[in-house]
Amino acid sequence: RKKVTIAELQQKKQKKEKITMLTAYDYPTARILDQAEIDTVLVGDSGGMVALGYESTVPVTMEEMLFMSKAVARGIQSAFIIADMPFMSYQGSDERAVDNAGRFIKEAGCDAVKLEGGSDFASTVRAIVRAGIPVCAHIGLTPQTATMLSGFKVQGKDAEGARKLIQSAKDLEEAGAFMIVFECIPDTLAARITAELKIPTIGIGAGKDCDGQVLVYHDTVGLFERFIPKFAKQYLNLTPMIRDAVIQYKTAVETGAFPGPEHMFTMSQEELDKLY
Ligand code: KIV
Ligand code: NA
Repeated sequence: RKKVTIAELQQKKQKKEKITMLTAYDYPTARILDQAEIDTVLVGDSGGMVALGYESTVPVTMEEMLFMSKAVARGIQSAFIIADMPFMSYQGSDERAVDNAGRFIKEAGCDAVKLEGGSDFASTVRAIVRAGIPVCAHIGLTPQTATMLSGFKVQGKDAEGARKLIQSAKDLEEAGAFMIVFECIPDTLAARITAELKIPTIGIGAGKDCDGQVLVYHDTVGLFERFIPKFAKQYLNLTPMIRDAVIQYKTAVETGAFPGPEHMFTMSQEELDKLY
């Protein structure tokens, strides 16, 4: 498969073909998603939680995001790679935002960056796009600033909230975002904004009428047990399977069943004796 391009992602919207996105934070997972021909791989700051063990995405640093992004990029041949800009790497000034966005492209080999925020961040999106770096926007439930939203809840349920989301989506498109993620917004509102925008919309907890869907990889394969969000679907429950395999290994070592002859580098006793 050839490298996925922005033009192809935007054509998918026109052709009403769904865009697929999943997160990855390491090389083996990136390889699996690329082999499965997922369109876009997101190195989400959710990796701070599901791969690094933080309580939220707030403490995730640029260095951690770059570390995960580099590993993912090494495993991808054709999928379009988007990296999340971590909290406080783009809010301080547009200049800092451009510098930090550039690191994901120059140092990590990603194709685009994603940042959370509505109309207030249109200037930031414009600055990064002006530098030649594609930006995916992210509105609705924005986990980095969940405290400002008074918690993790559906956004845009009242008239004021809905109007704000519609305006944000328009402003971010106007600022040059090539795609936009909707997190936790009502399905009908997501459908309406999707129809009004030229750029593709990717939903997570935003109904089935977005132009594409994204989930956190660890939620889809059962690798994150702390909680499972309502919008996630588990296609496989890996944690107990991996735990069983680890217990089998442990027991085999303890009982002497492992290693077997096929795992050893053997030398006859006679040959060894000759060395003495
Ligand atoms: O960090 C992440 O995984 C995300 C997606 C859930 C959109 O931002
Ligand atoms: Na994120």
